[in-house]
Amino acid sequence: MYNVTDMAKIFVTRRIPRVGLEMLGKAGHKLTVSEEDRPLSKAEIITALKKDLYDGVLCLLTDTIDKEIYEVTPHTKIFANYAVGVNNIDVEEAKRRGVVVTNTPGALTESVAEHAITLILSLMKRVVEGDKFVRDGKFSGFAPELLLGADLKGKTLGIIGAGRIGARVAEIAVKGFDMRVIYYDIKRSEIFERETGARFGETVEVALKEADVVSIHVPLLPETRHLINKERLVLMKSTAYLVNTSRGKVVDENALVDALRKRVIAGAALDVFENEPALAAGLSELPNVVLTPHTASATKETREEMAVLAAQNLIDFFEGGAPANKVT
Ligand code: GLV
Ligand code: GLV
Repeated sequence: MYNVTDMAKIFVTRRIPRVGLEMLGKAGHKLTVSEEDRPLSKAEIITALKKDLYDGVLCLLTDTIDKEIYEVTPHTKIFANYAVGVNNIDVEEAKRRGVVVTNTPGALTESVAEHAITLILSLMKRVVEGDKFVRDGKFSGFAPELLLGADLKGKTLGIIGAGRIGARVAEIAVKGFDMRVIYYDIKRSEIFERETGARFGETVEVALKEADVVSIHVPLLPETRHLINKERLVLMKSTAYLVNTSRGKVVDENALVDALRKRVIAGAALDVFENEPALAAGLSELPNVVLTPHTASATKETREEMAVLAAQNLIDFFEGGAPANKVT
């Protein structure tokens, strides 16, 4: 536990919604906020952290926090991530060093779930293709078989990872669109099954084979890296769609581009990319994809709530309490 101080020095790697910064200021902490409105490079973070003895760091998912960083900041006792995913942080190393890591779960569940549903609808109703068609001046009037999509009702949604977000996507799909759900998760959840009527797929393969649309909601871990690869894409129905709002590296993006080109699957919608912000070669030329710029949690409500949670985690820590969202 931290010795209670009047004031902690906190480095913020990039401006976040004001509400979080104000909370920290009101609690009496001294903030240094990066002046750049862009992600800092590792070298820049190191340079910035060496300028003072920071007690805490508020960091983003675009910052790699690892041994090199811990080495230059032996004084820093907490890294509060402005994200639910903590794959940008070497949590094991933090644990070994007794450094606390926090995240912002819960805050983004609704907006990410709604975004996943938006992407499913965009794909199945061919919204982006239709928009382009109209803008390109190709619309010459109603036609019985123009841009035929698919209805969600009665279709099977495959949820890969039934945590908070995956479970909420399933709930909206079932209650709002009469979809059926099959899911794969390392843990079977009877509550989830009871609430959504979801069936448990014994393996990820089973879920992929049966789904008309697959939505991914797993954290990025060594075990989930390239969970969706060439071999598994082949198992999906040729009429099926893939949606990823989790982390880009969960999908082998080159294999996905290849599968989309060869019509192994019908389409894909991605909010996250394997080498963000770069895209796999050929991805953006494909007509059967919908791409959003890691904005699934980008609603005013959610980004403010994330700022509040990250700030509260720091405030609680420096008051000597246990932050609510302690990862380690
Ligand atoms: C967003 O991608 C998050 O993990 O918070
Ligand atoms: C994130 O909040 C999740 O558990 O899905």
